[in-house]
Amino acid sequence: MAKTPDFICQSCGATYSKWSGRCDACGAWNTIVEEAPLSAGPASKSLGKKRGRGMALVDLATEETPPPRTQSGLAELDRVLGGGLVPASAILVGGDPGIGKSTLLLQGAAAFAASGLKTVYVSGEEASAQVRMRAQRLGLGQAPVQLAAETNLREILTTLEAEKPDLAIIDSIQTMWADNVESAPGSVSQVRAAAHELTTFAKRHGMSVILVGHVTKEGQIAGPRVVEHMVDTVLYFEGERGHQFRILRAVKNRFGPADEIGVFEMTGGGLAEVANPSALFLGDRDRPSPGSAVFAGIEGSRPVLCEIQALVAPTPHAQPRRQAVGWDTGRLAMILAVLEARCAVPFQGLDVYLNIAGGLRVREPAADLAVALALLSAREDTALPPQSVVFGEISLSGALRPAGQTENRLKEAAKLGFSTAIAPKASKTQASQDMRITSYPDMATLVGDMFGA
Ligand code: TYD
Ligand code: MG
Repeated sequence: MAKTPDFICQSCGATYSKWSGRCDACGAWNTIVEEAPLSAGPASKSLGKKRGRGMALVDLATEETPPPRTQSGLAELDRVLGGGLVPASAILVGGDPGIGKSTLLLQGAAAFAASGLKTVYVSGEEASAQVRMRAQRLGLGQAPVQLAAETNLREILTTLEAEKPDLAIIDSIQTMWADNVESAPGSVSQVRAAAHELTTFAKRHGMSVILVGHVTKEGQIAGPRVVEHMVDTVLYFEGERGHQFRILRAVKNRFGPADEIGVFEMTGGGLAEVANPSALFLGDRDRPSPGSAVFAGIEGSRPVLCEIQALVAPTPHAQPRRQAVGWDTGRLAMILAVLEARCAVPFQGLDVYLNIAGGLRVREPAADLAVALALLSAREDTALPPQSVVFGEISLSGALRPAGQTENRLKEAAKLGFSTAIAPKASKTQASQDMRITSYPDMATLVGDMFGA
């Protein structure tokens, strides 16, 4: 049967029979590209005697207990994996180019090798000599890791078949190409085919595989989104390029909690683990300054305190600017709207900038109140009470909703020398002897009390 070429959106992977300027599935413009269809290659090698037969769950369960997880010894990495590497699992590590994925995985490869896993690191981006140089720079020159610089999938699978490693790291999935797929490396067809081959190979041979995937802000590079569905675990490595802190975040994990984070610091000698990140994202706060609020947040399973900074200034433009780094701009607009509509604090004619210190990206709605207080404090040019932390979610009505894990937040804040918490009224908390809690039912009451409207 003759196949018509496929037109594939390079952003989300949707397939069309003809070209169009805009992808109906994801709404992206100019992302649809013609790609040759998957040629029907030779049927995959024998699946063994179990081919096509079902198996009773109860038989599977009694077969043998699953082998234990392997810990790398890099506690931050193990934590994000859900307590170590599960045998025969497939993991995707995504992130912006240059953020430190290769560094992380080379260190991870060495650590897993030291823990007894036979590890192969396949680089499609750098020559073996370059990888070795990097390893030396990281002090891992003697690590028992097999290196391969290869992009041809068939060659890689042959090598893996011969070497039978416990763990293969593929850096990156965008550079791999399968010779039975006729589109360019990096295209959705190629990435999908390579990821599919590698993950099925891994499952069949009881090998774990870690795929590295680049993502760009525009989502232009084909891929990781398509791959996310094929793997067990999806980790994102993020951080601001100018800051030294990097966060490894689990966004999907079949074998552990999603939303767990690991914190690293990029140093001259590679990534260093940050075991206690709670104070990391607090700016230099000798004296309280207007426009700054400390949010007592929870990242994964740990409390993390971070400073939220705001700047509010008269605008020279007809359309005032609303910019946020580390915080969702839509959520910023919502909080500004609540302040205007429910508290009669206008922001028209004012530029608003919001920044989370240290390059952290905060996603918790519990940070709403801290964002609002940073904005109000900047606008009124009044510092918040010294030694105070803030948390709580703001609803569109202006009501304040309690945040989860209040006790953990308060305990961590007290530990770091804070003495007051500004929080929603309903927070079920007994004021501990170390922390004084000032609580409000809604934003209007808070604004009236704190800023004397
Ligand atoms: P890299 O791991 O190559 O990023 P990715 O694989 O995600 O593209 O790391 C890129 C940056 O990290 C590079 O700009 C240099 C910096 N770096 C350090 O600061 N210290 C180090 O020890 C190493 C190896 C890299
Ligand atoms: Mg790299």
